Amino acid sequence: MNDIINQLDTKRARAALGGGQKRIDAQHAKGKLTARERIELLLDEGTFEEWDMFKEHRCVDFGMADEHVPGDGVVIGYGTINGRMVFVFSQDFTVFGGALSEAHAEKICKVMDKAIQVGAPIIGINDSGGARIQEGVAALGGYAEVFQRNVMASGVIPQISMIMGPCAGGAVYSPAMTDFIFMVKDSSYMFVTGPEVVKTVTHEEVTAEELGGAVTHTTRSGVADRAFENDVDALQMMRRFFNYMPLNNKANPPARPTDDPADRLDYSLDTLVPDSANKPYDIKELILKMVDDADFFELQPDHAKNIIVGFARMEGDAVGIVANQPMVLAGCLDIKSSIKAARFVRFCDAFNIPVITLVDVPGFMPGTAQEYGGIIKHGAKLLYAYAECTVPKVTLITRKAYGGAYDVMASKHLRGDVNFAWPSAEIAVMGPKGAVEIIFRDEKNDPVKVAAREAEYKAKFANPFVAGARGFIDDVIMPHETRKRICRSLAMLKNKKIENPWRKHGNIPL
Ligand code: HXC
Repeated sequence: MNDIINQLDTKRARAALGGGQKRIDAQHAKGKLTARERIELLLDEGTFEEWDMFKEHRCVDFGMADEHVPGDGVVIGYGTINGRMVFVFSQDFTVFGGALSEAHAEKICKVMDKAIQVGAPIIGINDSGGARIQEGVAALGGYAEVFQRNVMASGVIPQISMIMGPCAGGAVYSPAMTDFIFMVKDSSYMFVTGPEVVKTVTHEEVTAEELGGAVTHTTRSGVADRAFENDVDALQMMRRFFNYMPLNNKANPPARPTDDPADRLDYSLDTLVPDSANKPYDIKELILKMVDDADFFELQPDHAKNIIVGFARMEGDAVGIVANQPMVLAGCLDIKSSIKAARFVRFCDAFNIPVITLVDVPGFMPGTAQEYGGIIKHGAKLLYAYAECTVPKVTLITRKAYGGAYDVMASKHLRGDVNFAWPSAEIAVMGPKGAVEIIFRDEKNDPVKVAAREAEYKAKFANPFVAGARGFIDDVIMPHETRKRICRSLAMLKNKKIENPWRKHGNIPL
């Protein structure tokens, strides 16, 4: 028996060493942790249950028959984060560059299948050279098996990707189908074709970091949700982020008790909106003053900054926040911001997280770039997302709610449950200047008349009471009581249940 136990220990120690000390040192030299070190930091201490530590590939081509490393380049299993169940896979770059073989894919599929069956989130740590070249189509098939499971898991359990090394070619499509992507600056990249191919085909010279690094994907493309300085930072933030996730689509996110009173008043909010309608202010100030303990986990903070999305808590319960940001492009809706917010709203809706929408929007962004880029379709995504959304929806118009953007931003007509406005709200088809230019075109050369018409228009529409008279606004509230009123609304909505008509699936404009 002792011999057998010793053998097991030896085998485990061999597997734990992955591609060997030299490659582990190389991984560390790049500022990266190993697959197992990452899991250790991510999960609660001592909770990791590993599976398939001894699994090996079955490839015999290109000298692979004698090249076996137990575990085959990916560490899988389950454990807990802050006491809550989570499945993980972590690719081991020290073993064949973390390249995905058929057996490696089978391991990933094993944890994905179990995560779906038991209803627990899955976090994938990606650090891989892509399809194992020696295996050819067997590796490609392995990827497709993973993709299929990503789609089946979508909207059932939260799926989160951490990109902590290379992730190239078709391999990017698994993270792309997960709900959130975290990246690490300077050591991770994602692209469909690398710099060499780009140079050959388009003659562009670009580095891997410029093409698909963490900064690129959290500023320009919006592919990733957050960029972190290093592995440790990213893993610690993931533990925090995980607290906003429910285990599955039938569960609620965990509540976190707070000492922050639900009826806390904040009089500084009474002067947040400037006197001049064209002067910007930072909507983040309202978010921080409204939520529990000023704690807001923002997503995509450097992409499409004209809209803010992220998670926070109200009276201990997780909420999703969507807010127009008047500081950037006057808070207008454009292609990028519509897509950013639409995907966030759909996540919240799929996973029972109420949505608070803060509105200060002058409309959709005009211009050929937007029209040619398909703002019609992309703007429709946000409209669609809000309209199909059945979780509690509380909306607050702080200032402008003009035109189609008024409708889109969780208006009463899109089944907004509670729609508030501050006294500074202006709800109209457009701003006074534009409106007068159109409806009183004949008077456009008479500045006195124009000024009078603008004043008349402003008096009529630059307030929330026309909408209030129709019941489109449930109440006009004082800014200082925002937290209290929204907390009460969310408490009232806690057991809200509405269902959409049965259908195979909707056809959201893509
Ligand atoms: C097999 C691979 C591999 C791969 C890396 N290795 N990628 N083995 N299949 N795809 C091995 C290397 O041979 C090397 O083995 C070890 O991993 C580390 O690789 P290095 O090149 O030394 O590391 P580094 O210099 O850091 O470069 C990392 C890299 C590079 C940029 C990822 O290895 C690379 O370009 N690999 C090929 C990437 C690629 O073209 N993959 C296919 C993409 S298409 P030794 O024994 O020397 O340590 C794809 C299709 C997916 O993935 C389809 C889904 C639909």
